[in-house]
Amino acid sequence: MRRPEAVVLGTLGVALAAVAAVGAEGPALKDVMPKGMLLGAAVSQSQVEEKDAAAAALVTRHFDSITPENLLKWEAVHPEPDRFNFAPADALVAFGEQRKMTVIGHTLVWHSQTPAWVFAGKEGAALDRETALARMREHIQAVVGRYRGRIKGWDVVNEAINDDAEGSMRKSKWQQAIGDDYIAKAFEFAHGADPQAELYYNDYNLTSAPKRATAIRIVKDLKARGIRVDGIGEQGHWLLAGPSRADIEATITDIAAAGVKVLITELDVDVLPRDPGMYGADLEKRAKFKAETNLYPDSLPADKQAELARRYADVFALFLKHREKITRVTFWGVHDGHSWLNGFPIPGRVNHALLFDRQLRPKPAYDAVVETLNKK
Ligand code: XIL
Repeated sequence: MRRPEAVVLGTLGVALAAVAAVGAEGPALKDVMPKGMLLGAAVSQSQVEEKDAAAAALVTRHFDSITPENLLKWEAVHPEPDRFNFAPADALVAFGEQRKMTVIGHTLVWHSQTPAWVFAGKEGAALDRETALARMREHIQAVVGRYRGRIKGWDVVNEAINDDAEGSMRKSKWQQAIGDDYIAKAFEFAHGADPQAELYYNDYNLTSAPKRATAIRIVKDLKARGIRVDGIGEQGHWLLAGPSRADIEATITDIAAAGVKVLITELDVDVLPRDPGMYGADLEKRAKFKAETNLYPDSLPADKQAELARRYADVFALFLKHREKITRVTFWGVHDGHSWLNGFPIPGRVNHALLFDRQLRPKPAYDAVVETLNKK
């Protein structure tokens, strides 16, 4: 018969083996981050429900903030008018609280991953302003209200700006039904539902000057109207070759100069080729699978590992330089096997965008980030 201690040691042994398997050889990334800058990861439902125990252990070891990759999006949490699906989000918040992590909400008002009923008008007519605002208010009150005091900050509005030379407003269904002040309304509703929560505007390609100028104008306008807004999130879906360091630095300094926090909210580095028109993270822009663009189906060769490592070292050197301005850096995913870039913008490819590989082992890019941050 096993003695109780043996059982305890046995369990501990298994737990230790699991930790060893998830990159315990290097420091925990959160411990090498500059003071005051959180390190986050976008996590999946199977991770927070600990069905994927190895990835959950990796998150626990390296990150002090989590963002739900999908499970708080409208289609996931509020699939039908009278039905909310809170169980996965409850698990996310509990996972974060048990580990003393900062939990971020993503996202309240977006054109994507929102069910068709939200945008349907009465009896086949176009959606009217009043109905759109009522649905938005009800959704925000229910979702933000449920996690009041537990979710630290929300991506209130996601991707409201076009990629054109004017930085024009995206003519989303929200914008068309309500007008440009749908943004102000979303922030007001969110503030009403949790007065303590931080509220962010989030978008990709803010490294492009016109888009960034509009994001800053939006935030200044909110502030001028006395509406709470705490930060701007640059998603940070970047490539090996771009955006340039100068454009990333301008993004950080311009946002900070607007008087709000700078957040890098969805960081990853795509190592695969894209057509020029596919730059960014517009979910509507997708291309068909072409085997000749799936360059590294087995593993990333050493020269490309080194290039990825240099790219991550460069961007983390900028984060370090501007540590007073940046309050959080969140990776969009935990390890390469889980990254959305295996499916975007071209489905069926094998991408290598993050710091941990498919076996959850730290890559040269991880070493480069640690080395860069240790120079602080
Ligand atoms: C992505 C998820 O990672 C995918 O799993 C999902 O299929 C599509 O959305 N910008 C955002 C994120 O704000 O919510 C998107 O996440 C990636 C682009």
